[in-house]
Amino acid sequence: MTTPWKRKEVIGDCILYHGDCLEVMARLESVDHVISDPPYEDELHKAIGRIRRNDGREMIQDLGFEGVNATRASIVKEVVRLSQGWAILFTLAEGVRAWRDELQACGAKYDTCLAWVKPDSTPRMNGQGAARGFECAVTAWCAGGYRSWNSGGKRGIYTHLTNNRGRDGRHPTEKPLSLMLELVDDFTKSGQSILDPFMGSGTTGVACMQRGRKFIGIERDPTFFDIACERIEKASRQQDMFVERSPAPKQEAFL
Ligand SMILES: C[S@@+](CC[C@H](N)C(=O)[O-])C[C@H]1O[C@@H](n2cnc3c(N)ncnc32)[C@H](O)[C@@H]1O
Repeated sequence: MTTPWKRKEVIGDCILYHGDCLEVMARLESVDHVISDPPYEDELHKAIGRIRRNDGREMIQDLGFEGVNATRASIVKEVVRLSQGWAILFTLAEGVRAWRDELQACGAKYDTCLAWVKPDSTPRMNGQGAARGFECAVTAWCAGGYRSWNSGGKRGIYTHLTNNRGRDGRHPTEKPLSLMLELVDDFTKSGQSILDPFMGSGTTGVACMQRGRKFIGIERDPTFFDIACERIEKASRQQDMFVERSPAPKQEAFL
């Protein structure tokens, strides 16, 4: 039987697929949770890669992948089908409502919106308004029963530098490893399986490896897939140093 993935790599408890996530997810069985950083809405996605300067010129940074509008409904359908627990999906504030509506339409229980506060976010170069200082992540519970959460009355505010210790720097929208570690610690339990269908350079996978979670990652771009394999392989070699080490590295020294 032909497979929808071009490559499949197994590194310890991680399985990495190079392919389109909709095609690969259709062939997967259930996972405990989905934690992912999909592309943002088309209009915002373009704006992130485009900075208009005061002299009217634009600086374009091609992110190398398109926005999420056309595929959002299909992504959510697969995510809700596969997750037996949380779906945690990054977005900008403008995308929260669209994700919530799709999650609810697929039968998931929308829970809340987390904030990733970025004290070192890029300044607004043209001086015509406030720079973005945070991003969001919608959370929804995809199973029956009680929602599982490890952190008592803690607020869903995650403050992490973008240019954090441990940043790899080869993916244009890499999430801080410390942010992903804190999410894994708060929302999942040791030994559980976590799917990231938009793995990029594999930051979620590195966090899972460091915290003793099983990981399934999917990435369509071959260069990013190779970077993810390399980073997760490196984390695997270091795993003994990290598994079960707690608590998570919390906020950076700026607090
Ligand atoms: C926002 S980035 C994720 C970055 C990641 N969190 C990291 O720290 O490196 C989204 C990724 O999804 C990938 N992507 C976009 N559409 C995809 C699809 N249909 N299937 C698989 N990957 C896809 C892009 O190539 C991109 O690397």
